[in-house]
Amino acid sequence: MKLSHDVLEALLLALPYHNDVINVPEPEPCMAQGVMLNLILLLIFCLSAVDSQFPRVCTTEAAFLTKSCCPLWKDKSPCGSLSGRGRCRNWLTFTGKEVLQNDDRLDWPRHYYENTCECHGNFSGFDCGDCKFGLHGEKCERKKEIVRRELRELTFLEQKRLFSYLALAKTTKSRDFVILSTGDRFHRQTYRFVDASLYDVFVWMHYYSMKAILRNSTFDPNKNFAHQGPVFPGWHRLNLLFLERQIQLMTGDEDFAIPYYDWRGEKNCSICTDDLLGTNDAQGVLNPYSHFSFWKAVCSGFNFPDEYCPLADLEQKMERLHRKPGATPYAPNLPSFQDVENILKLSNFDTPPFNETSLLSFRNALEGFLSPDGVTLRRSMHNLVHIYLGGTMSQIPISSNDPIFIFHHSFVDKIFETWITRYDASPTLYPDNSEVGHGPEDCATPYFPCYKNRDLIHKSMTFGYQYSSFPLK
Ligand SMILES: *[C@@H]1O[C@H](CO)[C@@H](O)[C@H](O)[C@H]1NC(C)=O
Ligand SMILES: *[C@@H]1O[C@H](CO)[C@@H](O)[C@H](O)[C@H]1NC(C)=O
Ligand SMILES: *[C@@H]1O[C@H](CO)[C@@H](O)[C@H](O)[C@H]1NC(C)=O
Ligand SMILES: *[C@@H]1O[C@H](CO)[C@@H](O)[C@H](O)[C@H]1NC(C)=O
Repeated sequence: MKLSHDVLEALLLALPYHNDVINVPEPEPCMAQGVMLNLILLLIFCLSAVDSQFPRVCTTEAAFLTKSCCPLWKDKSPCGSLSGRGRCRNWLTFTGKEVLQNDDRLDWPRHYYENTCECHGNFSGFDCGDCKFGLHGEKCERKKEIVRRELRELTFLEQKRLFSYLALAKTTKSRDFVILSTGDRFHRQTYRFVDASLYDVFVWMHYYSMKAILRNSTFDPNKNFAHQGPVFPGWHRLNLLFLERQIQLMTGDEDFAIPYYDWRGEKNCSICTDDLLGTNDAQGVLNPYSHFSFWKAVCSGFNFPDEYCPLADLEQKMERLHRKPGATPYAPNLPSFQDVENILKLSNFDTPPFNETSLLSFRNALEGFLSPDGVTLRRSMHNLVHIYLGGTMSQIPISSNDPIFIFHHSFVDKIFETWITRYDASPTLYPDNSEVGHGPEDCATPYFPCYKNRDLIHKSMTFGYQYSSFPLK
């Protein structure tokens, strides 16, 4: 269907890189296989098996009519309640701070659903059919610990496996999730849910959550649900956990861990080689012999506040990835070792007014509206890296289309984790604030089930992963 033409093209070009047999566990329908032919067959199978992040089962008319997203689990009960996995809960406790106006994301997910699954104990997932991050097994009783390593610490074979997994994630249609594509945010009847690959669901989450907030028919560009406030580190942590988990489920490789890119003190993007992320020409076009040169950027080509992702299923309209490391005078260098040391000295997680003007705020310095000295408002850290890399990465709403995003954010998360460890931080450090979508009790947007923003400040082992060479030195 939508993906297939370019997917095939991409796979053919990627052949020299992906046709080695690698250690992929037994495939199930829509699962990984390292071998090219199987990949194509599986792909065709996956794309045709179902018709066309929202849980797919919750986008039926009935679900919207009853405002209920409590899917039946294997035991035929909502949220697996008969098996004690969870229950269908009416969230009378949604924050309710603001009357719902035009924006469908306010008080997530109340606009769409009043009933969603609340999972018990070790269970999680939109239907409580999965385990909490860091647990596995039939009853989710077994702990697991995966280690995220520097991209260049991986062996050659591990790197190949990583790129195969990413190629699969980009081409395998998500069974569980569809994405919202709409031409007009003022008119809900234009809202449409369409299929997307696992990787594109991940990209869309970032795009969707960072659109300007629409209130009383006015767009507020200084506020969104993933940036410019205390949710920034936790939201992105959850975003990576989501992708990591989806790749684990797709491949059956429970040990899959997202690597990171330690950019401190680099003179240029040293992972932008054709073996890894790809070189580029002066126009920013990626070398056709690199892994991601034929990837298309979902939700690219427009960024108007009054629409979401209207071309989400029109692949021919999407742009290819672009990258131009070091080309912009606005971001002449990557952050230094000293910069990272300095932001780690900021002991306040975040400070009033909890936006991009916050001073002495670890969050704002890490996000990069504040310089590492904590007192000057100047582009740094996370933002600086996006702008430095240029191209797709510098168009922040669609930036996660470039897989370098995940390695960058994995390192940002490593800095966050170093800070959590240094200050023995816990959810109680998450500040009370009334910024829309950034409250400690608000559900991170647009995830299922609800993850409260403050609950993302925990040591990473709570989520079953840790970093190599930790803490940062
Ligand atoms: C939940 O997981 C933990 C960690 O593996 C385990 O000790 C505990 O027994 C599990 N709880 C249940 C109810 O299975
Ligand atoms: C939106 O409009 C309503 C009614 O006019 C008003 O009470 C409310 O304060 C407005 N909200 C915002 C965020 O401007
Ligand atoms: C930050 O918050 C302050 C205080 O509410 C407000 O005056 C300012 O406009 C906000 N700045 C941005 C960029 O959102
Ligand atoms: C940085 O590397 C890219 C290739 O990845 C190259 O195109 C660019 O010219 C380099 N920039 C500098 C300043 O060396």
